[in-house]
Amino acid sequence: MERSAQASTNNEEELLDTESLSYVSKAAATEEATSTDGEVLLKMVGIHKWFGRVHALRGVNFAVHRGEVVGLCGDNGAGKSTLIKVASGYHTADAGQIFFEGREVKLRSPKDARALGIETVYQEQALCPHLSIARNIFMGREPTTVLGLIDQRTMNEESMQALASMGLRLRSPHALVSALSGGQRQGVAIARAIHFKAKLVILDEPTIALSVKEVREVLDFVRHLRDQGVAVVFITHTLHHVFSVADRIVVLAHGCNLVDVRTKDTDVDELSDIIARGTLGDVVPTTQHAR
Ligand SMILES: Nc1ncnc2c1ncn2[C@@H]1O[C@H](COP(=O)(O)OP(=O)(O)OP(=O)(O)O)[C@@H](O)[C@H]1O
Ligand SMILES: [Mg+2]
Repeated sequence: MERSAQASTNNEEELLDTESLSYVSKAAATEEATSTDGEVLLKMVGIHKWFGRVHALRGVNFAVHRGEVVGLCGDNGAGKSTLIKVASGYHTADAGQIFFEGREVKLRSPKDARALGIETVYQEQALCPHLSIARNIFMGREPTTVLGLIDQRTMNEESMQALASMGLRLRSPHALVSALSGGQRQGVAIARAIHFKAKLVILDEPTIALSVKEVREVLDFVRHLRDQGVAVVFITHTLHHVFSVADRIVVLAHGCNLVDVRTKDTDVDELSDIIARGTLGDVVPTTQHAR
């Protein structure tokens, strides 16, 4: 995970402004997005991204439906993080279109994505360790009193409510995030997304470097999001994690789409073989779910 990307997200302190978003060709986009499924929330079509001479995304298509958990898998360098950074407004695609709730959108910054309801949680640096839980949840979106001061009481109460709503009971909103475990930090970051009514939460390798118990907590948080109707994109190299929460699994290889399959139609062995080969080879894809 790039440090610069995470720093940028952390420093995102401006208030949301949906007016800054530009929607184009609304009618055409609606037709496009609903032609396959009326419940499409995010749809990315033909996304290309170059980094100098590296062609990281080569015409990737990716869709997420409302309330759906999508596992995004693939080997190192497959383009997973780049794709979600495009969806988060951190990177701008060199070609391709992005539709959200049926409208074509131009995401010029993480602020644009957040204004739509797309929240991205990066591993570890999603939070500022030296600030309190409450400050982290409200970072950049602090409520103010009539006098224009930060409304600490509201922040404390609402942050504890958001955490409790996910079954996460932390001692105090004043506790520093540096004192929390990795799993609890993920919980705080996800609570932030819930509090601000995200429609889509993107988690880039949220279970990396966590203990078994913490992994279970994070997977429970993902189920909790789905129960609340929030869609989740979950990137991981650990197929067992993704199989336990995802409704659908998308595999990228070398910047291209490789597999798009309903979880119930495949298994860990089959997908790990495909990912290791980076190609479907001769196997096919009784399991592949065309979209
Ligand atoms: N900021 C960048 N500058 C230059 N090249 C980049 C940048 N970000 C990604 N790349 C390159 O783009 C390709 C895709 O990288 P990406 O980080 O999206 O892969 P990934 O699937 O997330 O891999 P991993 O599982 O290792 O996190 C790689 O070749 C990578 O080196
Ligand atoms: Mg990555």
